[in-house]
Amino acid sequence: MRTILVTGGAGFIGSNFVHYMLAHHNYKLVNLDALTYAGNLENLSGLEGNPNHVFIKGDICDEGLVSKLFAEYDFDTVVNFAAESHVDRSITHPEIFLNTNVRGTQVLLEAAKRHWSEEPDNKHCRDYCEGVRYLQVSTDEVYGALGKTGMFTETTPLSPNSPYSASKTSADLFVRAYHETFGLPVNITRCSNNYGPYQFPEKLIPLMINNCNCGKALPVYGDGMQIRDWLHVADHCSAIDTVLHKGKIGEIYNIGGNNEKANIEIVKLIIKTLGKSEDLISYVQDRPGHDRRYAIDNTKITTELGWKPIYTFEQGITETIQWYLNHRDWMEHITTGGYQNYYQEMYGRAKTSL
Ligand code: NAD
Ligand code: DAU
Repeated sequence: MRTILVTGGAGFIGSNFVHYMLAHHNYKLVNLDALTYAGNLENLSGLEGNPNHVFIKGDICDEGLVSKLFAEYDFDTVVNFAAESHVDRSITHPEIFLNTNVRGTQVLLEAAKRHWSEEPDNKHCRDYCEGVRYLQVSTDEVYGALGKTGMFTETTPLSPNSPYSASKTSADLFVRAYHETFGLPVNITRCSNNYGPYQFPEKLIPLMINNCNCGKALPVYGDGMQIRDWLHVADHCSAIDTVLHKGKIGEIYNIGGNNEKANIEIVKLIIKTLGKSEDLISYVQDRPGHDRRYAIDNTKITTELGWKPIYTFEQGITETIQWYLNHRDWMEHITTGGYQNYYQEMYGRAKTSL
């Protein structure tokens, strides 16, 4: 039985991953999440009393806590989702991105290195316990922006443009350095834009669904012709699961499903599905440094590891819109701040275990 430290498991992708792994494996998951504005215990509802899931409220930058958790649970695997993840916020508050995304990653790497090393006191020791692995959940944004043609491969030069992507790139370089210098068994995955249940409504798709439902303006940045490559979050989770089981140590894997869409197309699709008017569209000032186009070449993970996405975009987006319609209370708790009261209630009662 594996014991996995999942960080950021109360956020969008992390919570989907926790549900996915508990449904597919008999592993113990210890979910460490600081419950920032983006962390929501309601994303983990249904897991109360599950002996294979332990929730710990805490910060990945807290060396003492991370080291204590390694000693207590003897993790053999780390999957690091914890991050500040919103590009717009990184433009207004870059410093927190540096702290969580870079420093937090280094704290996890150091704890893994110490705990897994066969000789923790020997700084040159490159021998680790059998079967251990650190997986860093990174992003296609580390590659910067594409023009009209081309795709990101794992060897595309790193060229981040926002403070968010700069912090994710720096974290990737620390992961690489811990592998090269100390021999730590690592993987990095770089995924394209995700959509699906439990996404915080500051991101394009849930924000547009929510605004549409409330009859509010739909803020489209610039000309709306920026292109993102969309992947259903369940496919991202299955890709990470595949890398954990079949990934070659030290390798980077791009993850994407070949679904390039212009933002305005997505917005119009949501309007149409919800039976609203395109008059709601409001073109607003562009995001500074806005990357024009992302597109993932997924050849490596599909050919070397045999992973492939299950969802077509059409099926995934229809189900996703329906999910948000069926979970209006979830959205309402976030938009009213009620989800943080839920945390007070749950955490007050459950302390460290949910
Ligand atoms: P999210 O913002 O929804 O969730 C982040 C989670 O991390 C939250 O639960 C938050 O409370 C937690 N967290 C933040 N700071 C923390 C800290 N210091 N210690 C412990 N926990 C902390 O983000 P997401 O969209 O689920 O993204 C998860 C990861 O996947 C991130 O690393 C992100 O860079 C990466 N990623 C996201 C996408 C996407 O489209 N959303 C695509 C590719 C990669
Ligand atoms: O590519 C992977 C990345 O995708 C992840 O690493 C990030 O964590 C994740 O947030 C996401 O970044 P984006 O900046 O692409 O996502 P966002 O949902 O913020 O924006 C998607 C596109 O929509 C982008 O071109 C900006 C545009 N947009 C966004 C919002 C919130 C708008 O036009 N209007 C909006 O209100």
